[in-house]
Amino acid sequence: MNSTIELLKTRFEQALVAAFGEELAGCDPMVVLASNPKFGDYQSNVAMSLTKQLKQKPRDIAQTLVDSLEIADLCAPPEIAGPGFINLTLQPAYLEAQLNTIYIDARLGVAPVKKPQRAIVDFSSPNIAKEMHVGHLRSTIIGDCIARILEFRGHEVLRLNHVGDWGTQFGMLISYLQEAYPQALTTADALDLGDLVTFYKQAKHRFDADEAFKETSRARVVQLQAGAEDTRRAWQLLCDQSRREFQVIYDRLGVQLTERGESFYNPLLPAVVADLHQLGLLQEDAGAQCVFLEGFTNKAGDPLPLIVQKSDGGYNYATTDLAALRYRIGQDGADRIIYVTDAGQAAHFAQVFQVAKRAGWLTEQVEVVHVPFGLVQGEDGKKLKTRSGETVRLRDLLDEAIARAGADLESRLGAEDRTETEEFKAQVAKVVGMSAVKYADLSQNRTSNYIFSYDKMLSLQGNTAPYLLYAYVRIQGISRKGEIDFSQLGEDRNREVILSEPTELVLAKHLLQLSEVILAVEADLMPNRLCQYLFELSQKFNQFYDRCPVLKAADRERTSRLLLCDLTARTLKLGLSLLGISVLERM
Ligand code: ARG
Repeated sequence: MNSTIELLKTRFEQALVAAFGEELAGCDPMVVLASNPKFGDYQSNVAMSLTKQLKQKPRDIAQTLVDSLEIADLCAPPEIAGPGFINLTLQPAYLEAQLNTIYIDARLGVAPVKKPQRAIVDFSSPNIAKEMHVGHLRSTIIGDCIARILEFRGHEVLRLNHVGDWGTQFGMLISYLQEAYPQALTTADALDLGDLVTFYKQAKHRFDADEAFKETSRARVVQLQAGAEDTRRAWQLLCDQSRREFQVIYDRLGVQLTERGESFYNPLLPAVVADLHQLGLLQEDAGAQCVFLEGFTNKAGDPLPLIVQKSDGGYNYATTDLAALRYRIGQDGADRIIYVTDAGQAAHFAQVFQVAKRAGWLTEQVEVVHVPFGLVQGEDGKKLKTRSGETVRLRDLLDEAIARAGADLESRLGAEDRTETEEFKAQVAKVVGMSAVKYADLSQNRTSNYIFSYDKMLSLQGNTAPYLLYAYVRIQGISRKGEIDFSQLGEDRNREVILSEPTELVLAKHLLQLSEVILAVEADLMPNRLCQYLFELSQKFNQFYDRCPVLKAADRERTSRLLLCDLTARTLKLGLSLLGISVLERM
């Protein structure tokens, strides 16, 4: 099924050619959602944009175009306003027919993509022996949502966890543990991540202060690179330790990832440097091998280098990303590669992409995108910290969200004089807490910083997960109260949507926009658009439900309104699932 906007665009394209000739074939008809419902549902400003080309007044262009426009099956007669805006209002009969069609479609009108791509979403990607922090949480939540949307559209998605599991830090850490806690290097489970992080800090301290230790650490890195067995084993144990901890978080969030850490690309690094050399792109700068970048300059205006091999012969983050990019294009056959990290890494990716392009590894056929996001801040607007000033552990953060959701529930149950089982309460607290954390993150424009506030994210009012979950619960309540089996509604041959009340029309139009929204997120990778859509859907549903009796309505109207309720619930459920959020039947 084509979305309404696609249908309108096609009709406009046809009319442009019919009215002004072949020279307008391929002209963008500029059909968009109306900026204000006062002007109808959709509008086109194409007449204004054609004045120069057609040498006519925009209002005249609009009139000629409208005369050729065949949209009576979709819209009321178009209106021309102001200098030449064309305003369109959808017909109730069209809306009814569309709703009747999507009602029996499990995808609710969102067609699978015609040409599926192979997409890689590189997200989460914490670092071994370091705590997974709120930045990684953001990456995990946003990356998972993007992957879900691409998967739903039918793309083949590889969800890659590019964990930082390689580098000089391991030489340091292993050398330190050798002295301080040798069991950790030979026995599995000897440490938990908390200890590992502490050891890491101590090791770093030692490394910075002690020359001899620095030497031992470097020698360890060489051993690791060379594959010395005991060092490798120690490294493996440390990685396993961290991995288990990360997995706990992924399981709790319900996020799937395939780990392919930096170490995976280690054997491919020498070839990156050798090939760049062959291509004549390498230059030596203070002993390091670099590519001098175009468009990146220092204060003096000289081009900046991207170092791909340090003066000590070691490789770095950029070398690994170059190798990874080559591998993902060459071996994985990726068409689109999406990197979800904080905005601070924007320059790194732009530089890596530029070098890969100049080397010919990255061609026009492949789209690489950095999906940047802002910082997570505490309610004081500063970096998120615990009360005692330490970095917040993700486990604690999730626990706290769940505990607070549980406390909110208890007080609501008390106020409503309800009793529920412990099992019910635990389940509701878990779903609400997790959803709140995810939704608070996804509903922000990801490029801005966001303030982490348990109170806000758990509120039943406003653009929050609990508000949306509650709209869904409300609809399930209607089905329970009226003893309606929504799954049976579709079987009724006489079922049909009939729209008469203004709030019904508003809800109907919104329900039909799901596909447009999902396609937009697929293109621009902004999950907040989907959140905004679902939030408005809940609001529009609530307005409809306040105005229009459902269970008390008579026959055909009752069925029609039940269909609208069910469609709203299914749209919420589907939309939330794409955000990685599950619904509750009661809360
Ligand atoms: N490990 C990195 C960090 O914690 C993120 C890696 C992102 N992915 C990549 N291909 N560079 O900042």
